[in-house]
Amino acid sequence: MHHTVQLTDSVHWIGVNDRKTHLFENLWPLENGIAYNSYLIDDDHVAVIDTVDHGSSEEYIDKIKSIIGHERKVDYLIINHMEPDHSGAIRALVKEYPDIRIVGNLKTFKIVSAYYGLEENQHEVKKDEELNLGHHRLQFIMTPWVHWPETMMTYDQSDKILFSGDAFGSFGSLDGGIFDDEINFEFYESEMRRYFSNIVGKYSNMVQKAFKKLEGTDIKMVAATHGPIWREDPQKVLSLYDRWSRYETEKGVVVIFGSMYGNTEKMADYIARKLAEEGIKNIRVRDASKTHLSHLINDVWRFRGVILGSSAYNSGLLPTMEHFTTNMEHIGAKNHYLGLFGSYSWNGGGVKKLKEFAENVDWEMVAEPVETKGIPGEDAFRQCGQMARSMAQRLKESE
Ligand code: FEO
Repeated sequence: MHHTVQLTDSVHWIGVNDRKTHLFENLWPLENGIAYNSYLIDDDHVAVIDTVDHGSSEEYIDKIKSIIGHERKVDYLIINHMEPDHSGAIRALVKEYPDIRIVGNLKTFKIVSAYYGLEENQHEVKKDEELNLGHHRLQFIMTPWVHWPETMMTYDQSDKILFSGDAFGSFGSLDGGIFDDEINFEFYESEMRRYFSNIVGKYSNMVQKAFKKLEGTDIKMVAATHGPIWREDPQKVLSLYDRWSRYETEKGVVVIFGSMYGNTEKMADYIARKLAEEGIKNIRVRDASKTHLSHLINDVWRFRGVILGSSAYNSGLLPTMEHFTTNMEHIGAKNHYLGLFGSYSWNGGGVKKLKEFAENVDWEMVAEPVETKGIPGEDAFRQCGQMARSMAQRLKESE
């Protein structure tokens, strides 16, 4: 027996929570779990929008049957996004409803074929095309690269619900509260930004293009494939994604360091203390050897100020810092103020590599990099203090 969750009289949430998987995409930690949201429209023709992960297929089919019974069939599967966290139950759905028509765009079907070998019952839709289910008229909005090339959104013109795929989604399972008016958003805000920055942030310009396509659409509800459904204040999630995809940041600093023997860490702590003395209240100091890349990226997306330190390791960066900087370059965050520091024992290399990183990402340097041999002395701390003051000053100017 499943208790169904209704968005409207005829639109149901049929998603599942995943609290077992440790790493999303075998990469990003799921300390707070994740929800795979799927939706069912119970109309003259029954449509399902996206599915769930493979491991939840049985529960998923049971949920569908608890709504439409055992006699009626699902007529359409609308695929907004093919990543396996949403397409994993396609085979189970097709097995249960062999006549189901799969709705997607040309790029969708190439991936359907590559992942599941399904070639039949395809219903290809193009930009702004409509699908009439009886009462509900669905419109399809092509939003490539939010998050894969085939991604599209489905807009229910009747109930004015935007089924947005990964866009406007979040990490974090739905722990009882499913709608925005049922949750304390403080918990989800960080998880939502982490999801955005880790998964979608690289494609921020495509998110902005998607916003342009949505201009003029009357959105009463946002129903993404992860995280809460927004029915009370959909503008809130739209605004957050708009801000993050414009690289808008908060006044604050994240200091990220890699330190073998504690010398670079001493400099990190000193810089953080001086930032606080300068009136900066949002400061995070992160050890890259301990804090997962996922959370480091989240901090960078949040704060305008980024100060990076590394000890030298084989004439380069400490590998944990190298992992961070390589991925940051790949993701391509913008609009940050940057400070660099580090230490070495006999020859350098760490700060030299950080300078190369600075050139590649093209963030604004607030001060000359600080590099010290061995235990930092008075002169190194003085320079670190100067860097902190310059960072604080730049942040105040940018308000
Ligand atoms: Fe939630 Fe890109 O999959």
